[in-house]
Amino acid sequence: MRDSLGPGADPRSEGGGLQDVNWDALIRSELDGMRPYEPGLRASEVRERSGRADVLKLSSNEYPDGPFPSALEAAGRVLSRLNRYPDGSCRALRARLAERWGVDERFISVGNGSNELIRLIGQAVLRPGDEVVYAWPSFVVYPTVARLFGAKAVQVPLTAEQRHDLPAMRAAVNERTRVVFLCNPNNPTGTIYTRDEFEAFLVGLPEQVLVVVDEAYFEFVDDADYPDGLRTFDGVRPLVVLRTFSKIYSLAGLRVGYGFMPEPLKRAVDCVREPFNVGSVGQVAAAFSLDDQTEVARRQRENLEQKTYLYSGFDRLGIRYIPSHANFVYVLTERPVEVFESLLSEGVIARDFGTAPALRLTVSAANDTDRVVEAFSRTVARLGSI
Ligand SMILES: Cc1ncc(COP(=O)(O)O)c(C=O)c1O
Repeated sequence: MRDSLGPGADPRSEGGGLQDVNWDALIRSELDGMRPYEPGLRASEVRERSGRADVLKLSSNEYPDGPFPSALEAAGRVLSRLNRYPDGSCRALRARLAERWGVDERFISVGNGSNELIRLIGQAVLRPGDEVVYAWPSFVVYPTVARLFGAKAVQVPLTAEQRHDLPAMRAAVNERTRVVFLCNPNNPTGTIYTRDEFEAFLVGLPEQVLVVVDEAYFEFVDDADYPDGLRTFDGVRPLVVLRTFSKIYSLAGLRVGYGFMPEPLKRAVDCVREPFNVGSVGQVAAAFSLDDQTEVARRQRENLEQKTYLYSGFDRLGIRYIPSHANFVYVLTERPVEVFESLLSEGVIARDFGTAPALRLTVSAANDTDRVVEAFSRTVARLGSI
């Protein structure tokens, strides 16, 4: 028996008669040329590379503080019972969400992050040849999900102000359209579409089109014109509203997201998801987080304060950015590669988009914001205008 599959080991020389495997024939053609999701640089990687201990990871829109104390305490109580499978239907968490949002729990589905729900919805509804409409740039998972299930990705460019162009998206809908993803606020630009724009978009939309409103950054929005997707959700029309515990609740590491969807779709999602898709620690931590809305409000204020401070630094330095409704800011630059590297040399990890003329930075805590402004200041000194 072979005892090593390390470098140099060749299974074909082991006498099993194994010929070159035709992986292209084995793996679905939809995956041809697809690249795995790249989450950006890890802080530990940058620490090792740069030798700096004070690396600031501002590339994934995480909240800077840890989870809520009530969540940690409740999570701790579950640890000694991890020999048991979690509740596969997330009953207690769904009941808490139902109470919090005033929507019956039969419409609520919980996922291993809202990311999982995006994929499960795709798996439940998309057939080869269908079309999926979404804005671009927007959340990178939408095109992946479309492709994964053999659907055609139809990208509609954002407006010059980096906002959803809902009339153009509406015009892109045809008889092959099965899903429209609307990211509000939009990642990576932080912009929102308004209630009027949303209502106009929905008028006369064919009923075979499922509208998926992704509100991962819902809690950070403070704008009277923002359309809370739940106000349109009635359990009948083909509309899904997705939210997450990964952002303001600081539970990104536990992977808990949730969605409001009509019952037939929830049933379909239940059929395609794994039986125990959300761990018990995550379920409990999420449910107890909901109890502390005072902390949510404090974090909303803190985010707004730090964002405003960041803007003033950018204004002083002549840096262009898109005012954001979320916990990140889209910085416009003609030299994204150089600016990214310069920030990295200052120990700040931004999110880059290849050669697209922008970088995204997560809003962080007060000390961090000072460091970010300082890092930009040195970048401008180093590169001239950016
Ligand atoms: C717009 C948007 N939707 C969904 C997600 C997925 O979040 P999670 O799977 O952590 O709930 C993210 C994460 O960054 C996001 O930006």
